[in-house]
Amino acid sequence: MSAEVRAVVLAAGKGTRMKSERPKVLHELCGKPMLWYVLRALHDAGVDDVTVVTNGDLSPHVAAVASDAGDGTARTVLQEPQLGTGHAVQMALAALETRPGGTLLVLYGDMPLVPVDLVRCTIEARREALALVTARMPLPSNFGRIVRDGEHVARIVEARDASDEELALDEMNAGLYAFDEAKLRRAIAELGRDNAQGEYYLTDTVGRLVAAGERVRPVLADDYRSVLGVNDRIELAAAVAALRRRLCEQHMRAGVTIADPATTYLEPDVEIAADVTILPNTTIGRRSQIGAHGEIGPNARLQNARIGEHAVVADSVVIDSTIGDFALVGPWAHVRGGTDVGMGARIGNFVELKTAALGPGVKASHLAYLGDVAVGARSNIGAGTITCNYDGVKKNRTTIGKDVFIGSNSSLVAPVAIGDDAATGAGTVVIRDVAPGERVVGNPARTLPPKK
Ligand code: UD1
Ligand code: MG
Repeated sequence: MSAEVRAVVLAAGKGTRMKSERPKVLHELCGKPMLWYVLRALHDAGVDDVTVVTNGDLSPHVAAVASDAGDGTARTVLQEPQLGTGHAVQMALAALETRPGGTLLVLYGDMPLVPVDLVRCTIEARREALALVTARMPLPSNFGRIVRDGEHVARIVEARDASDEELALDEMNAGLYAFDEAKLRRAIAELGRDNAQGEYYLTDTVGRLVAAGERVRPVLADDYRSVLGVNDRIELAAAVAALRRRLCEQHMRAGVTIADPATTYLEPDVEIAADVTILPNTTIGRRSQIGAHGEIGPNARLQNARIGEHAVVADSVVIDSTIGDFALVGPWAHVRGGTDVGMGARIGNFVELKTAALGPGVKASHLAYLGDVAVGARSNIGAGTITCNYDGVKKNRTTIGKDVFIGSNSSLVAPVAIGDDAATGAGTVVIRDVAPGERVVGNPARTLPPKK
């Protein structure tokens, strides 16, 4: 299907109802800009020839959004000034080489919930001049109304131009169209702007095509909520709520227990294995991955985190880091900066790990700062231990061997290395390397005789 279908995404509108300096389609839902969802839906539907109609503020951002949303790139066409959706399509068509017989999909960049299946279905439904998506909804407020002629669409009337009788129609125009390209080119050239907003309306092409004897087929969406356009921040919040619910349901269907979907915040690119439990008030984003049988939450925030199987992360923050299988993190730990917590390690309350590589079975159970450090297997880090990694100018590394015992309230002044099986007493200030098996105490650390 993909080869002959090209798509045009309209995203140049000023988005005045958002009252924002940021272009409307860059406002985020669940960690991704609105435009990302539209481009992802096209990508998933197999449409890879995409043109985005932009304005000057949006243009510089489109390439990054497109590459994050799929593996392709999107062409951009600048529309300045913005004279309406019909004008936006005129700009796009002027920039695209003519392909008679091809299908041109046109959709609005402000419909982030658009389902992939609906995109596919609309493409397949175009056997004549145009297939367009409609939805029945209780109160279509500002949406364009579909005026039918039996099974087909006769025309679309914008709310601001509608009569009372037309306003009472409950079928709305969603903003997803599959056109016969050659017929669209003819109809779009004829548009005028004699309407309430003084704009060239894309929706007027429907009446033009019908007047020329063409058929316009409606594709009725199952659920109007999935095709609502977002025009202001109230509609944005409603779309976010629907999307959050949809993401939670996808994971629940795949075997994840979510104790409270209403307080679980998932982003689209996260991977969660079956039999993971997510407890309330938890945010999981930026391509995090969670292995089977893990328990995340309550009150956890994971960004770009890889969590092993059977691991527990409670009341904690894990950013850009890896937690090994069977490890326990929290409550109230902060793990960041490329940290790697080994299998079965135990990271307790008020422990901060920054760029730390902890071997299997390491314990740091209470109140510690471990930064720029490597800790060997099974070592125990006492409460109050600090790696003093910053000398006021640069960061320095600490290396701790295997089976080391670091006594409570030790300060390890980096750069410093502590050998395997070594021990520090409570309150030790270590300012030089400690040999394997050596026992040190005091400030500055001095050697104790070996244990009898
Ligand atoms: C539009 C439709 C309406 C439909 C509704 C669905 C028209 C005239 N009206 O109204 O029938 O029910 O969407 O959500 O098409 N844009 C441009 N250039 C412009 C103007 C707009 O690229 O000059 C883009 C916007 O960025 C936006 C999209 O086109 O992504 C739709 O524009 P918007 O102003 O949101 O139209 P609606 O009033 O929502
Ligand atoms: Mg809109």
